[in-house]
Amino acid sequence: MKQALDYCFQLNPLLNKLYSTLIKYLKFLVGTRWDERYWAKRHLRKEEKGDWGGDPDWIKEYWDSRSHPYRNFLIQKLSGFSPIMNILEVGCNCGPNLYLLAKKFPNSEIKGIDINPLAVRRGNEWLIQDGISNVELLVSKIDELDQFQDKSFDIVFTSSVLMYIGPDKIKKVIRELVRITRKTLILSEWHSFEFSSLGSHMLYWVRDYVSLLKEFIKEEPINIIKMPVEIWQENSNWQKYGTIIEVIMEDGDVT
Ligand SMILES: C[S@@+](CC[C@H](N)C(=O)[O-])C[C@H]1O[C@@H](n2cnc3c(N)ncnc32)[C@H](O)[C@@H]1O
Repeated sequence: MKQALDYCFQLNPLLNKLYSTLIKYLKFLVGTRWDERYWAKRHLRKEEKGDWGGDPDWIKEYWDSRSHPYRNFLIQKLSGFSPIMNILEVGCNCGPNLYLLAKKFPNSEIKGIDINPLAVRRGNEWLIQDGISNVELLVSKIDELDQFQDKSFDIVFTSSVLMYIGPDKIKKVIRELVRITRKTLILSEWHSFEFSSLGSHMLYWVRDYVSLLKEFIKEEPINIIKMPVEIWQENSNWQKYGTIIEVIMEDGDVT
């Protein structure tokens, strides 16, 4: 079915546009549940293509993307903060970012949560096989952060996850991310000042994260770091919108 649709879209770009518009309105109606369902059950879908090169074993592709220049850029940014006692990645998949962080911070307690149970299970296995013992991945939805106490983690970060959270849930999620962060909150997402804080649907959600964050913080500084275009040669949306948004909390300490 998916292959037939892709073939039709190649033949007729207008059909592709109509289909995208239909999906956009359906996502408005259904809300975040649409993407939650997709990600939670993605491993059960047949004819699935991966996000990093097209391999049907898309979870393995995430694991094998650890040497992608994007990861290097993100990890460098995250490593600029110390000392770090503990770190949480929300929407970690099988943990490629957390593997790299564990190598940098072998004494920190590192956690990841993700909605996809198979990504979490395989990630935990691969981490152990590679001798990493300070990372734990858990199955959880992004809007279940009430399991963590206020200021539980020195660093909390997201990487390409809030783009799947619609206007129905994004405020609750940002409020919770701010609440559980002690030092630094980092969002590596599709950001643009041209859009509202709730976002606009450009295949996935692009929004003004600075306005959104300001609803939940007092006067904590926010830094905006545009990603260099060369790290995303294969993805024009990341080139256009890819941004790291850093909030330095009261207890934060940039080195
Ligand atoms: C594009 S991947 C990014 C994975 C990883 N952060 C990275 O940098 O490679 C998006 C991840 O977010 C997870 N995800 C999507 N919606 C979620 C939700 N509502 N709650 C928790 N995880 C979610 C997916 O299962 C997937 O692993």
